[in-house]
Order: sequence, then C-alpha cells, then structure tokens
Amino acid sequence: MFLTPLNPRWPDWHGKRVWLIGASSGIGAAVARDLLQRGARVALSARREDALVAVAANSALARILPMDVTDPAAWKSAHKHLIREWGGLDLTVFCAAQYEQLRSWELQSDSVRGTIEVNLASVYYGLEVILPDLIAQGNGSIALVASVAGYLGLPNATVYGPTKAALINLAELLYAELHPKGLGVYLVNPGFVKTKMTASNKFPMPAMISVDEASRDILRGMEKGVFEIHFPKRFTRLLKLMSLLPYRLRLAALAQMVGR
Ligand SMILES: NC(=O)c1ccc[n+]([C@@H]2O[C@H](COP(=O)([O-])OP(=O)(O)OC[C@H]3O[C@@H](n4cnc5c(N)ncnc54)[C@H](OP(=O)(O)O)[C@@H]3O)[C@@H](O)[C@H]2O)c1
Repeated sequence: MFLTPLNPRWPDWHGKRVWLIGASSGIGAAVARDLLQRGARVALSARREDALVAVAANSALARILPMDVTDPAAWKSAHKHLIREWGGLDLTVFCAAQYEQLRSWELQSDSVRGTIEVNLASVYYGLEVILPDLIAQGNGSIALVASVAGYLGLPNATVYGPTKAALINLAELLYAELHPKGLGVYLVNPGFVKTKMTASNKFPMPAMISVDEASRDILRGMEKGVFEIHFPKRFTRLLKLMSLLPYRLRLAALAQMVGR
C-alpha cells in the first residue's frame, strides 16, 4: 500500500489534453514547452496573447486561449471551447499567480484583493467549471501550483504566502474528495525559481533554480504519480523541518532567515 503511487502516473504524454493556466512566462511557459515537446496537446492561457504565441512557437499541438483568471465568465467560455474541440481534459495546471514583496505595514487593499483573486479565488472559478465534467468523465487530473511560502509564515510574503498556504490546504481536501472518484490531484511546491516573479526580491534566495529545472522536476513528479512535488529538495526539506519545530524555535529561525 505504501509503495502505490498516490496519483495517476504519466508514462507517455503523447496526445494528452493539458490546459495550462499561467503559460505566458516563467514556470508555466517552461512546462508548456516541455509538454509540447513530449507530444501533449496544450492549451495555453494567461492574459498576454503575444507571449502565449511565442511560447507555442507554431506547434500544431498548441491552442492559444487568452484569459484573465479573475473573470469567472472567461473560465466558462474557455472551458466550453476546449471541451468542444477536445471532448475532455486530461490535466489542468493552475499556475497563474501574482506576487509583491510586501511587509505587513505596507498593505494596500487593492493589491491585497488582486493577489487573493489571482492566486486563490481564480482556482475556485476554474474548479467550478472543470470538476463536474471531470467527475462525469471518471478520470483526469488537476495540479495546483502553490509554494514553499505556504509551509511557514515567511516575512515579505504577506499576502502571497497565505494564498499559497490556502492552496496547500485546498489540494489536500481535493485529493480526499476526488481520488475516490478516480481523479488525480497534484500539489506543486517550488522553492525559489528564477522568473520575473522573483526578479525584484531584495533578500537572499537560497538554492535558486532555473525554470527548465523546475519544469523537469514537475514533470518527473507527475510521471511518478507523486502527490506533493517539491523542489529543490535541498531547500524544501529544510523548510519542512523548520515547520515541525516548536514555535519558539521556528519563529526565531524565520526572523533570522529573512531579516527585519
Ligand atoms: N518563481 C518562484 O520562485 C516561485 C516559487 C514558488 C512558487 N511559484 C509559483 O509558480 C507559479 C508560476 O510563477 P512564476 O515564477 O513562473 O511567475 P511568472 O513568470 O510571473 O508567471 C506568472 C503567470 O501567471 C499569469 N497570470 C498572472 N495574473 C494573471 C491573470 N489575472 N490572469 C491570467 N493569468 C495571469 C501570468 O501571465 P500574464 O501576465 O500574461 O497574465 C504568467 O503566465 C506561480 O503560481 C507562483 O506562485 C513560483
């Protein structure tokens, strides 16, 4: 029982129908490129159509579906379009997010609302349209891209961190509800990855990896049927260990790590 993978394995991506949300840059773009290379059919969504077209690089397997994830109507029409064209979905990857390095005394309601909408509420809008069909299909998977910022209360991630903690919680409950219905639920927790999201960080980012390494780890984790795909392990294991410490030690370590 302990050796059985928690999720479906993906030995062959050829012909698989993948909807990648947040595919215009960074990790999402790298995963989209790798999946196209492996023969999957990939629908690329994000707001910037020109960037999606560049990622697709004229692949006949790619579909460009620009949308703003904060618009529930956009989810409905994009999903309808895909189901009409493909007849169903094998995997939806929720990778869109926004991040602002922000201390708790710098909060502004517009930015708080925007981050919660993109990082968290949009996942619910997507699940609302995707799940009824997946459950009827009796197979198919979803992957939520959260973050190690969801493991612990990391200073600077004042709004971003709690949205990612919520996604980790959501992935666990989705697994409990959907696995018995034959669906896969993957939780992806990256450490620091070199993208435009991390470009403006003014603090040290240990064990930073490239988007190509991140994509390789994500696909390798899915190919093995892992529930939580976290990387790079030399960093994520340390944070996991920290999250087990009693608060006196854990809070001291956090303050030490991120500075005042
Ligand atoms: N980089 C890291 O160190 C790191 C670490 C842990 C977790 N992550 C997670 O990994 C995922 C990818 O991040 P990344 O670093 O690759 O960042 P990125 O390069 O900034 O990519 C973010 C993606 O989200 C899309 N997006 C943002 N707002 C959107 C909206 N309203 N509607 C539709 N799409 C929207 C962006 O596309 P448009 O701008 O074209 O809309 C873009 O494709 C995120 O979930 C992030 O939280 C990243």
